[in-house]
Amino acid sequence: MDLHLLTSPPTEDERDAVDAVLGEPESGWEGGERRDIDGHVARRGHEARSRRTMLLPALHALQSRVGWISEGGLGYVCRRLEVPPAEAYGVASFYAMFSTEPRPRTIVHVCDDIACRVNGAEGVCAEFERNVGPPGDRWVRSPCLGLCERAPAALLQGFGDQPFDMPFAPLEGGNLAALTKGGGWTAYREIGVGSTPQLTGRTPTDGPWLLRRIGMYQDDRAGLVKATAETGGPLPSNDPTLDRYRAHGGYEALRRAVALGPEGVIREVKDAKLLGRGGAAFPTGVKWEAVAKQPVRPHLFVCNADESEPGTFKDRVMMENDPYAVIEALTIAGYATDSDQGYLYIRGEYPVAHERLRAAIDECRDRGFLGDDVMGKGFRFDVDLRRGAGAYICGEETALFNSIEGLRGEPRNKPPFPVERGLFGKPTGINNVETLLNVLEILSVGGPAYAEIGTPDSTGTRLFCLSGCVEKPGLYEVEMGTTLRELLTMAGGVRDGRALQAILLGGAAGSFVTEDDLDLRLTFEDARAAGVSLGSGVVMVFDDTVDLVDIVLRIAAFFRDESCGQCVPCRVGTVRQEEAIRRLAGERPRGSREQEVALLGEIAQVMRDASICGLGQTAASAVQSAIARLGVFDGAVPGGAT
Ligand SMILES: Cc1cc2nc3c(=O)[nH]c(=O)nc-3n(C[C@H](O)[C@H](O)[C@H](O)COP(=O)(O)O)c2cc1C
Ligand code: SF4
Ligand code: FES
Repeated sequence: MDLHLLTSPPTEDERDAVDAVLGEPESGWEGGERRDIDGHVARRGHEARSRRTMLLPALHALQSRVGWISEGGLGYVCRRLEVPPAEAYGVASFYAMFSTEPRPRTIVHVCDDIACRVNGAEGVCAEFERNVGPPGDRWVRSPCLGLCERAPAALLQGFGDQPFDMPFAPLEGGNLAALTKGGGWTAYREIGVGSTPQLTGRTPTDGPWLLRRIGMYQDDRAGLVKATAETGGPLPSNDPTLDRYRAHGGYEALRRAVALGPEGVIREVKDAKLLGRGGAAFPTGVKWEAVAKQPVRPHLFVCNADESEPGTFKDRVMMENDPYAVIEALTIAGYATDSDQGYLYIRGEYPVAHERLRAAIDECRDRGFLGDDVMGKGFRFDVDLRRGAGAYICGEETALFNSIEGLRGEPRNKPPFPVERGLFGKPTGINNVETLLNVLEILSVGGPAYAEIGTPDSTGTRLFCLSGCVEKPGLYEVEMGTTLRELLTMAGGVRDGRALQAILLGGAAGSFVTEDDLDLRLTFEDARAAGVSLGSGVVMVFDDTVDLVDIVLRIAAFFRDESCGQCVPCRVGTVRQEEAIRRLAGERPRGSREQEVALLGEIAQVMRDASICGLGQTAASAVQSAIARLGVFDGAVPGGAT
């Protein structure tokens, strides 16, 4: 493609959108009005280039205002930030939520990923095909939108002066008709995100920990509505507020943290034996200590809220319903590691969580809970909220750093590890949302008491995302060591009393298990011993009517789409894996079935052993477990379709 970025002028809308994010240009060099002085002085170079981190926000601004990123718009961003046009185009074209071709002013992303597939996604897509036309610029098929407990799901985006992002879940009945044929709809937000009956938190101790504030703000609201009805005046919103958070114990943990001092906090987290909940199960206290000890300054701390693993929605539920807790926990992490700047990187498909966090961060800053002197305790910490743009790989920590820095979201080689050289080359701590939230509980009961919950090697509770063919899909919090059978029973068992065919544990990068594995204790060590992974807490249930070959094929397509393409084993392996599965599914094996299955095994081994990052290393995990445990390509899948 020929790029003419520096010759195409931006439209007025494009210029306004970019200036709203970057501020007015200060000289003709930046694309502003050319003044006499500009002929003599060039204020460019390092200062402009240091703003490259604003590239993604500027691209978001263009996409939202005009619905696509034109050559003129992109060229203007390049001039403002001094980014080479080819590099900026490489970034813009990396993300699924950006378009470099003109598009209509609205687009619907329809999830056809695994939890939605077993809840009618293909029917939804057929309805769109019938009434709107083939997928293209008005609607597209999308990977998991993180709304799996309410499948099937979709996300409507509107671009222009008043852009909007509106999730629909479940997408059915009137809403489906409205989106495909026109008419009025009820948006997800208006349904009341915190009032979903599936949201259940149970620990064998005394009630939920992490989930305990979920729904409380809605309970408050009932009282407020009654009081307002008596006194008159506008109805209160059901959004969490800082005062309500504090009335429910908010910011007590930060007070305790300051009383303990940074080393004391790290000691409690180490005593608690907290392991990361983002997938790799790394000891959190060890990571924090490593960052705190780095001589280089500044230190930075990142909350990883990219949550794009198919079947995962726990972080979304927490961010939508308990945003101040996420901010408080991130502030404690910053305090303990001597980091004065935090980043919260949230996936682009979570508009409600994004909006609530943005409002909560602003309120915390206005009220002195973020800023130069947090709570008057003499330390600085602030949070920069960054929005992803539809790339699963940006959940990998170093890809996430690159994304914030305005580069393509491609993972870096390790070492150096982030604790030494992470974001902007500085020592960086990074944790998943759920990991951070556990720190609030650790500081409330003390590290040793926290370690009493669960098992000696997997302490505390764990959030599990139940979806698929289950009676009560939703978010469950259970003590580590609860069995898979107990968890399934809490969720009401397989939907409609049907037979269980398989459970996908840990997400698309996880493994399938069967009825025989129901007594598996949900701990890191038991999972490891059984050759599976808890991953991001996905428990997706498939009954005996589900075509598992179709599910395996969708997983393979997911990895093919999401591979960043940087290293050959993954870039080629994910494509070859999908092709082989497609041949097997269509009963057209090259050679025999056995030869194709052996080929899949070889591809899996190469990807596992030679890929740069966890995406390639786990891209064959579910496929291989479906072959080994379910005999999915044996001709007859146990108990179900072939
Ligand atoms: C392909 C890929 C995607 C990932 N996605 C996420 C994610 O969405 N959220 C997350 O917290 N960690 C994700 N991770 C793990 C992160 O790289 C990192 O280990 C994690 O954020 C560390 O936090 P923790 O110690 O609290 O688990 C991903 C890893 C890989 C390889
Ligand atoms: S393994 Fe895949 S996703 Fe990871 S760096 Fe290589 S190509 Fe990119
Ligand atoms: S929202 Fe569709 S699979 Fe998660």
